[in-house]
Parts: sequence; C-alpha cells; structure tokens
Amino acid sequence: MNKIVVGAYWGDEGKGKIVDLLAADSDWVVRYNGGDNAGHTIVVGDKQVVLHILPSGVLQGKNVAIGPDVFFNPGSFLKDLNHVVESGFKITGRIVIDERAHVIMPYHIKLEGNEKIGTTKRGIGPAAKDKAERTTDITIADMVGENFLERIKEVVSEKKEELIAANILTKTFDDERYCERVHEVYSEYASRIKEYVGETSYLIYEETKKGSVLLEGAQGSLLDVVHGTRPFITSSNTIAGGAASNLGIDLRKFKIIGIVKAYPTRVGEGPFTTELGNYEDAKTEEKMKKLSVEEKRKVIEGDEKLLGRWIRMDGGEYGATTGRPRRTGHPDFVALRYSAMINGIDEWVITKIDVLGGKTFKAAVAYKKDTKITEKFPFRLEGWEPVYSQKEYFWESMTEEQCIQAVTGGYDVLPEKMKQYIRDLVIYTGIPVRMISLSPKREITVVKDVLLRTTEYLK
Ligand code: IMP
Repeated sequence: MNKIVVGAYWGDEGKGKIVDLLAADSDWVVRYNGGDNAGHTIVVGDKQVVLHILPSGVLQGKNVAIGPDVFFNPGSFLKDLNHVVESGFKITGRIVIDERAHVIMPYHIKLEGNEKIGTTKRGIGPAAKDKAERTTDITIADMVGENFLERIKEVVSEKKEELIAANILTKTFDDERYCERVHEVYSEYASRIKEYVGETSYLIYEETKKGSVLLEGAQGSLLDVVHGTRPFITSSNTIAGGAASNLGIDLRKFKIIGIVKAYPTRVGEGPFTTELGNYEDAKTEEKMKKLSVEEKRKVIEGDEKLLGRWIRMDGGEYGATTGRPRRTGHPDFVALRYSAMINGIDEWVITKIDVLGGKTFKAAVAYKKDTKITEKFPFRLEGWEPVYSQKEYFWESMTEEQCIQAVTGGYDVLPEKMKQYIRDLVIYTGIPVRMISLSPKREITVVKDVLLRTTEYLK
C-alpha cells in the first residue's frame, strides 16, 4: 500500500527513522513540502545521518524524488548527497528533482529577518512569497535552462527596490554584478544537478498503481501554513492533504500514517499549551547538561521546568537544522485529535516513548480560558491553559536489553503504565497504533501485536 508519513505535532517527531523503516517496502520515497528547513535524523548501525532535503529512502538504496512544491536549495542538496556518500552509503536508486520546484536563491536567505516567528533562516518564507507572487520565482527548469542569467536579471530587476532596501544591492555591488555573481555560483550548481531534473507527476502516478510509493512529509501538522498555529508556522502545506495538492496525487490510494512523538516539542516561537518551563530559560541553559540527583528530586516534587529540561536532555531535543533547544511539553491529546482530523490519520506510529521512562507526566484532555472549556484546538491558542486528566503516568526506564526483548515479545510485554498511556491516547484520538519506537536504532521498534491490541481498545 502507498503511504504518507506526517508529523502530528510541530515537527521533529522522529519521521526520519520511520520513513527509513517503511522505505524497506517501497520503491519510491518522495518529499512533497518544505525545504532544507527540515532535518531528518536516521541512525543505521553506528552511523547517524542527518538529511535536510534528500528523502531518507536514499539510505536504503531506494529511488527518491523531490516534488514540484518543494523549496529547493541546491547547495543543501549537494551537501546531503556528499554526506550520504561520506557516511559509507551507496546511492543506487534514481534521484529525480521536479522541474517545477522552487529554487531558494541567496537573496531569499538574506531577506529573511522575521525574528517574531523564530524561523530556521533557510529562506523558506521569502521563497514562498515569490512563489505566490508568480512572476518572481525561479524554478528548477529556469535554473537548468538556457536563459538562466536572463531569468535572474528579470527577477532581480523586479525585486530591485526590495533588494536595495535590504542592502543586498548596493552602489558598489549593483544589480549587474550581483546577477553575474549569483549566476556564477548557481550555474555551477545547475551543472551538478542537471542529471537529476525531471518531472514527478506522471512518474508518481504510474508508481502509485504498484502500491510502492512512500511520501515523506517535512515539519509537523501544527506548522501547516493554513491549519497550523498561525502566524507561528512554516510556509508550506505539511498535512497529508498538502501532498495531494503539491504532488497532484489521488489521496485515496494512500494510507496516512501520523508520527506522534510521545511528548510534543516545538522550536521557534509561538504558543505551546502544555509547555514545561519556558523558551527563554531553555535558550540560556547549558546544552545537554545532565540533571543532578537534587534536581531529579525536585522533578519528583513537581518542578515542571526541570522535567522539561530532563526530557530535552534525554531526548536530545536540539534542532537538527539550527541546533536550537526544542521546547518540551506534556502530551497533548487535544492537539493530537485535531491533527488526526485535519490529516485523516489511519494509524499512529509512536516515537521516543523510551525517553519518558523514569519520569512522571500527564496528558492534556481539554483547554480552558476564563470560564470556557473546549476539547477543540483553537485557531488562536494564546491564553488557553491545559486541562489535564486526573491520571499520572510513570514507568521505570527500560534498559536496551528490555527494549530488544519487547521487539520480540511484542506489545504485551511493554510496561503496564506505558500501555495505559498508549490506550488513553488511542481512545481519545480514535486512531490505533501501528508501531512503537523505543530507540533511534532502526531495529528497536515494536511492531508485533501493536495494531491488533490498539485496535481492540477502540471496540
Ligand atoms: P521556517 O520554516 O524556516 O520558515 O520556520 C517557521 C517555523 O517552523 C519556525 O518556528 C521553525 O522553527 C519551524 N520549523 C521549520 N522547519 C521545521 C522542522 O523541520 N522541524 C521543526 N520546526 C520547524
């Protein structure tokens, strides 16, 4: 069956590992949104590979494609390719970059200055503006075409005022020289990516008939340009429906798999109802600093800020693209049910549940503001407080040996309290679970009886 993988929260749910796993049953792995603002981390044996634009399936020797609505930074693409080869992997499948994809130009990166959102500064927003403008975007077809320099000149001329205001064009570095300089660098890129340029709509249409297409979403559902926590969102459609419009596919032919990290995280600014501690403190704390025994004792006494730091540390929650600390929170069932709804999720995959071992946490089941209580995810999240269920979840950390045993033993041998948390998540969202990941390692993933047991919860 064809599949789409989407993130349920604000990205960084561990999609890279799951795409890598699911790629084993697919012939084509396709990126449909975003750009190199994404960072997909995959661990194979003792190697860790972080990819920003190249679909993760490349590590399994699969064919990979970059769809027509991706914001494509050629430098990042070439870096990803190098990184894969230098990490000891062979690229044996085909690579296709759609000719319609939007090229991120150097001025897009320079024009990006929206501190309010806390973007990844990869030029995504400015490139998306040009896409919407229609006359100032540069496509892959332009880049590998014969008139690339003329096209750059046309666009720079149309954007001249904006580029002067941003000090990109100056008296000493006028438009003529600027265009030539950009062309020099980008025509070199063009000559290196030319062999991969093609069109993906017909290709994916044919491959979909065979049932072996896997679509890799970037970012998370709550960062969707329409349905996310606007304005603290990215500039592309991150939800499953986005794949239909971005790639031009028939969504009915795809199973939709939502990746839920066992606890939500968020990088960048924006409201986060179940946040533990606050972003300002997270920004100043020492990276990966272990908690002392005294601090862990304080967590048991209810110190939420330290619990947030502990999860961040154990989960290695630092941005794969920017290195920023990720804000951490209690699980949020309200957000997950919304996410299930706007995507049409068929099955969840739960990741990083091992990180919660040894920690007491709870789950939000509603939001409240003044006298209002809701189970619906509000458009403006600001000011809403979480309402937690009465239950607290706690289980001892599992050793790697116990995790390996759970892979063979299956769902039934997982800690009782972990299963209670999973059951509550399944019942609240109405969606069963397909797999549970207990480690960044590919092989430490529980599949046996997971779908069976979690479907039983819904009967
Ligand atoms: P942009 O996509 O760089 O414009 O950033 C917009 C918002 O999306 C910021 O809050 C970023 O931190 C966030 N964001 C973008 N890409 C990712 C991602 O891959 N994971 C998590 N957050 C992301």
